[in-house]
Amino acid sequence: MRITIGKAAGILRKGGIVAFPTETVYGLGANALDAAAVRKVFIAKGRPADNPLIVHVSDQAMLRLVVREVPLAARRLMRRFWPGPLTIVLPKRPGVPRAVTAGLGTVAVRMPDHPVALDLIRSAGVPVAAPSANRSGRPSPTMAKHVLADFPRLPIIDGGACMHGVESTVIDLCGKVPRILRQGAVTLEQLRRVVSTVELARGTPKRPASPGMKHRHYAPKLALTVVRSRAALERYAKTHPRAAVLCVENDLQLIARNTTISLGRTSNDAARLLYVALRAQPKKSTELVARLLPERGIGRAVNDRLRRAATKILH
Ligand code: TXA
Ligand code: MG
Repeated sequence: MRITIGKAAGILRKGGIVAFPTETVYGLGANALDAAAVRKVFIAKGRPADNPLIVHVSDQAMLRLVVREVPLAARRLMRRFWPGPLTIVLPKRPGVPRAVTAGLGTVAVRMPDHPVALDLIRSAGVPVAAPSANRSGRPSPTMAKHVLADFPRLPIIDGGACMHGVESTVIDLCGKVPRILRQGAVTLEQLRRVVSTVELARGTPKRPASPGMKHRHYAPKLALTVVRSRAALERYAKTHPRAAVLCVENDLQLIARNTTISLGRTSNDAARLLYVALRAQPKKSTELVARLLPERGIGRAVNDRLRRAATKILH
C-alpha cells in the first residue's frame, strides 16, 4: 500500500514497519531504539538474527544517540560522503537494542542522501534501522514495485527508481585499519582519497568479513552463470541459446539470437540496472548469464553482487 511520509512517520513512532526509498535501494524501516519494532523487520524479511541492521540518521544529534564515539577518520568520511551511500561501523551506545546489532558491540550508521528518507527520519524523530526491503536472499529492490512483489501488503512511500541501485559501502572503523566490509556505491578509489590506509576486508566462507557476508544473496529466480570476459560471454550465449544475457550496450553486437537484458551503457548504468535485471523473468529463457565488469570504481560493487548472485562462475 502506497502512503505519505507523514503517515509512514506515524507508523514508525508507533512501533510499526514501513518501506521507504533511499539513494541506494529501498529500505524496510523500524524505530532503531524499539527492540520489538526491529524484530518485526527480521520476521518480515525472514532474515537470520545474526545479521545486523544499518541505523539511518538525519543529523549529528541523532547519530550521538546510537554511537559512543566518532573518531577523526569517521568525521572526515562523514564530511566528505554524508549524506550519502557510506555506512560506518562504530562503537555502539548501550541503548541500541541487541536485535539491531545482532549482539555485536558495534553499530553500522549512515545518513541517506534522499529527500524522502531524510524527511521520514526527521518527522519520525527517531533513528531508523533498515535493511534492504527484499525478502532475505532476493535481489535488493530499486523500485516500489519490487518491494511490493516481495511484500504485497507492506506500507511503502513510493519515491520512484533509486539513483545508485547498489547498496551503500560498509566501512569498519573499529579495528586497527579502516576496512571495507561491503563494497558499494562509494568506491574504494574515492575512499582512499580521504583515508589512504583503507583496506578491502578479505573474508573466507568460515570467517566472513561481516556477518552479512556469509548468507546467500541477490538470488534471481533463474540460475545465473557469471563469466569473466566478452569472449566467454559470446561463447556461452552461442552454446546456450535459451540463456538470457545481461549485457551492456557494447556487448549487444556479440549476441545474435539470445534474449538480452540491458545493463545500460556505463558501469554506473549497470549498477543502477543490476537488480532490475536480476528480477526480470524473461519468458522463453531457462537461465541467465552475465560477465564481470572491469574491476574498478563502481564496477567492483557490481562484480561483488554478480558473484554472490551466481549459481556458477566460469574461470
Ligand atoms: O544502501 C544500503 O545500505 C541499504 C539502504 C536501505 O540503506 N541497506 C542495506 O542493508 O543494504 P542490509 O541489511 O541489506 O545490509 C547491511 C549490511 C550487512 O552486510 C550487515 O552484515 C552489515 O551491513 N552490518 C550491519 N551492522 C554491522 C556491524 N555492526 N558490523 C559489521 N557489519 C554490519
Ligand atoms: Mg540486503
